[in-house]
Amino acid sequence: MTHWTLAARAAKMNPSVIREILKVTEKPGIISLAGGLPSPKTFPVEEFARACEVVLGHDGAAALQYAASEGYAPLREAVAAHLPWDVDPAQVLITTGSQQGLDLVAKVLIDAGSRVLVETPTYLGALQAFTPMEPQVESVASDDEGVRIDELAAQVGSGAGKARFLYVLPNFQNPTGRTMSEARRAALVDQAARLGLPLIEDNPYGDLWFDQPPPAPLAARNPEGCIYLGSFSKVLAPGLRLGYVVAPQAVYPKLLQAKQAADLHTPGFNQRLVAEVLKGGFLERHVPTIRALYKQQRDAMLRALEREMPGLGVHWNSPQGGMFLWLRLPEGLNATTLLPLAVERNVAFVPGAAFYAGQGDERTLRLSFVTSTAAQIDAGIAALAATIRAAA
Ligand SMILES: Cc1ncc(COP(=O)(O)O)c(C=O)c1O
Repeated sequence: MTHWTLAARAAKMNPSVIREILKVTEKPGIISLAGGLPSPKTFPVEEFARACEVVLGHDGAAALQYAASEGYAPLREAVAAHLPWDVDPAQVLITTGSQQGLDLVAKVLIDAGSRVLVETPTYLGALQAFTPMEPQVESVASDDEGVRIDELAAQVGSGAGKARFLYVLPNFQNPTGRTMSEARRAALVDQAARLGLPLIEDNPYGDLWFDQPPPAPLAARNPEGCIYLGSFSKVLAPGLRLGYVVAPQAVYPKLLQAKQAADLHTPGFNQRLVAEVLKGGFLERHVPTIRALYKQQRDAMLRALEREMPGLGVHWNSPQGGMFLWLRLPEGLNATTLLPLAVERNVAFVPGAAFYAGQGDERTLRLSFVTSTAAQIDAGIAALAATIRAAA
């Protein structure tokens, strides 16, 4: 009988808690406030149908051929032009979703035992991407303004044990929906530069602001000190698997080599489709419609919470963009044990503990306000309140 000996890193891989929860939420009739799925109403299907005809009609053979690992040049130029600082297209690497960007960063910057810093809580998919490289992941405390920097100098350390990077999500963070303030951004970039600490800035939600754009990205303030990750998943469609990395010259060639080893290149057909769709300022017309829809849904969730939760000792925030809201249960309740009870009442959420590198806050949970309709949000929040009331 064949005996498969797994690599030590394979033993450290775990199924995504969220993907497991999403399986439960496929139960018919359930209102899922759990998934991080963009609203399918926002997918520009007709524009892609038109782009398919153009790409296959004019450029079909090239679109179906192997292509450069860096990405399709017109798309790299479009990405550089879209970003709010002076970006050379040569520093743009097109990736198969920004999730691949996280994987490449992990491969290029982490040795077994390397210390890496993440904010608290953080994106679960980043923890999953980093884990196979066997780092020591350390949490940096955060507050309503974002990651805290008062202890940063001590946490970065020095010499061989110095942290390789700090991974941050400044805009409408997944999972909390919170946004890093202007003052905190300025102070973080300043501190990081003084400490020689590289920053990994993950920004898939930055364009989805409701009332005003968020402050400038960290990378715009110190491009040499940041790797910036962006994505087309939330502004066009996640099924395209199209993201990008903007990296300084000190690391770009290695990210590119890691990309070559991973998948040679991101599908050239998809890249050409997106380049075609973006022509003529499509995003400037399309993204405001996503903002308007998500803002309406955020408002529906806030109204439902205000109506259903009073007296229960529940606290929540009011995200200024993105897809998620963060809620904290009253003392004595645990979101992980509450979930099956909520599912019995046909509503699902993601327990917040999944998003912590270390010991999670068991009282927290993440609610998505974008995939369900306003009526479903109303019913879902009412069911959640009933679950909390019964468990309290
Ligand atoms: C913070 C964050 N980073 C990265 C990703 C991965 O996005 P994609 O690979 O679709 O670009 C997600 C997806 O939800 C996310 O929330």
